[in-house]
Amino acid sequence: MSLYDIAKQLVAPGKGIMAADRPSPAFRELLAAEGIPDDEHSYRNWSEMLFTTPNLNECVSGIIMTDEQVRMADSRGEGLLPQVIERGMIPGISPFKGMVVLAGSDGETVGSGLDGLRERLAEYAALGVGFSKWRAAFQVGPGTPSYYAIEANAYVMAQVAALSQEAGIVPIVEPEVMLWGDHTIERCFDITEWVLSRTFEALYVHRVDLEGTLVKASMVLSGNGCPQQADVDTVAEQTVKVFRRQIPAAIPGIVFLSGGQSDYHATAHLNAMNANYEMPWRLSFSYARALQREPMAIWRNRAENAPAAQAALYHRAKMNGLASMGLWAEELEAEAVFSSA
Ligand code: 13P
Repeated sequence: MSLYDIAKQLVAPGKGIMAADRPSPAFRELLAAEGIPDDEHSYRNWSEMLFTTPNLNECVSGIIMTDEQVRMADSRGEGLLPQVIERGMIPGISPFKGMVVLAGSDGETVGSGLDGLRERLAEYAALGVGFSKWRAAFQVGPGTPSYYAIEANAYVMAQVAALSQEAGIVPIVEPEVMLWGDHTIERCFDITEWVLSRTFEALYVHRVDLEGTLVKASMVLSGNGCPQQADVDTVAEQTVKVFRRQIPAAIPGIVFLSGGQSDYHATAHLNAMNANYEMPWRLSFSYARALQREPMAIWRNRAENAPAAQAALYHRAKMNGLASMGLWAEELEAEAVFSSA
């Protein structure tokens, strides 16, 4: 399959991506609160529960996994990755090995894991991985992000994108402007515009094929500590505006991260964009927290809770699938008409 075909499948109407690539701090807190050991076994149970949710492929096109998950055996001793494929979803990989502080910076970071990446990507491709994701995280502060951090991250994201395409893997380039801080939506807009413009320049320099690339973007939002919180329509308007300025129409799709937004806002914002604007790209989701918050609260590493946790995951994925077509409505949440049964 061509890179373009994989990218198109990932953003097919009504579908988005589930990011399962990090045992988030919330996951670790849940385990600690329940007295569950934070070990390989819990991570396997959690991953298997998520990936085997009945009918998930109706609204989830692909799952972003870690290196550990890609190699993981399920409770029957069979591979988890082949199960994802059998269930009609595309496995993806987050090949990065953690954030490191940029030397000489004021605590700004860049992803690590470029060493041996060419070989690892070839191995992932042989296992059936169809796409990769690489994140850059920009904290908005008085002097950040700096020109230095934006350039360094743009070049690393572009290198990973080029190496992914060489291996036949669709890169998802993720420059995240983080929600944390008291900055206004206007400042978020300006930073997002700057970051996107430098990211695309780096993709051009690295000869990345845009038709075979997806962007994982943050929405243009007020900082979580800003007294003036922009409403849903303003977020939709500003986000679409910055994308129109900086994301070429050749990109098949933009998938959002949820970034700490509530489940409701992650869905409502996506829906408002798709319901109200004509755009050259498909706009969908690649959420971790906004899909897994509720399943995590229900699950608690108990097998008897798995069906209810899976129903909660299916419901959120379905709501976001509808939002990716501008067809979501708040009443659907209250009715909880969808279940995975
Ligand atoms: P959130 O949706 O929780 O922001 O995570 C998305 C992700 O994969 C960030 O790398």
